Amino acid sequence: MQVVEANGARIPAVGLGTLFLKGEICTRIVTAALAAGYRHIDTAQMYGNEREVGEALRASGVPRDEVFVTTKVWWDKLAPGNFERSVEESLAKLGLSTVDLLLIHWNNPQVPLKDSVGALCKVKRGGLARHVGVANFTVPLLDEAVSVAGEPLVTNQIEVHPYLDQAKVDAACARHGISVTAYCPLARGKVPGDETLARVGKRHGKSASQIALRWLLQRGRVVIPRTSKSERLAENLDVFGFTLSEAEMAEIDALKRPDGRLVSPPHAPRWD
Ligand SMILES: NC(=O)c1ccc[n+]([C@@H]2O[C@H](COP(=O)([O-])OP(=O)(O)OC[C@H]3O[C@@H](n4cnc5c(N)ncnc54)[C@H](OP(=O)(O)O)[C@@H]3O)[C@@H](O)[C@H]2O)c1
Repeated sequence: MQVVEANGARIPAVGLGTLFLKGEICTRIVTAALAAGYRHIDTAQMYGNEREVGEALRASGVPRDEVFVTTKVWWDKLAPGNFERSVEESLAKLGLSTVDLLLIHWNNPQVPLKDSVGALCKVKRGGLARHVGVANFTVPLLDEAVSVAGEPLVTNQIEVHPYLDQAKVDAACARHGISVTAYCPLARGKVPGDETLARVGKRHGKSASQIALRWLLQRGRVVIPRTSKSERLAENLDVFGFTLSEAEMAEIDALKRPDGRLVSPPHAPRWD
């Protein structure tokens, strides 16, 4: 599996997203993903499936140190004290002593970053997370987070797909040596039916979904597509061994549009 290196972390470039995967379906898909070769699983306390993810990790028989597990602290648990409790609860549900990556899921405008990022870094120093990072951070938030962080931040997990221009946040991440983890890489199911992506895909013998994932990977991003269908796991992982030309990359860049964003903040919008 190709990795993306950032500030000391080696993150498997393709992971499995698990938002909305619940109960038995979650356990089954995560187990199947690990059997298919996935070595990176993305969960969050808010997803309500850490227990199932943990069960699948154990059932898979894949050694713990071969799987990169990410979880996140929800925005209403960022104050010191609450933060540590959230992480301990996540680890207990996962059945793990440490996660590979712990993220602040969304900033909370009511909690100063020096407190939330301070708590994040303290958790890392306490050994509960190997690496730390953020999600949904704008350029000003990212700049401030880096300035108050006592530990390196390794990723900013943000919405990225062909319909959304994230050039500004991308540039800020690059400036700080922070990787971009692309969530909603398939634009929640809009990518598979896209005519441009399908046309490019035909040239390479690939699906529209594989072309969007390849476009993201060629831009150096980590991708975490979700599927609830085991037959799609292999398709979403089979995105290596071919290269999109610069002209094809540019054609996909041109799909961005002003109303491309799919996910809104759970509290007051702060995208700038
Ligand atoms: N940090 C954050 O705030 C945040 C926010 C959103 C998401 N995330 C993370 O990012 C992950 C991915 O984002 P997402 O789940 O919102 O959306 P996504 O991965 O862009 O899209 C998932 C959708 O695409 C479909 N799909 C998957 N593979 C396909 C294929 N090969 N062909 C056709 N359809 C396919 C799935 O349907 P089927 O199930 O029917 O295959 C599902 O409806 C999440 O699961 C979560 O882990 C993080």
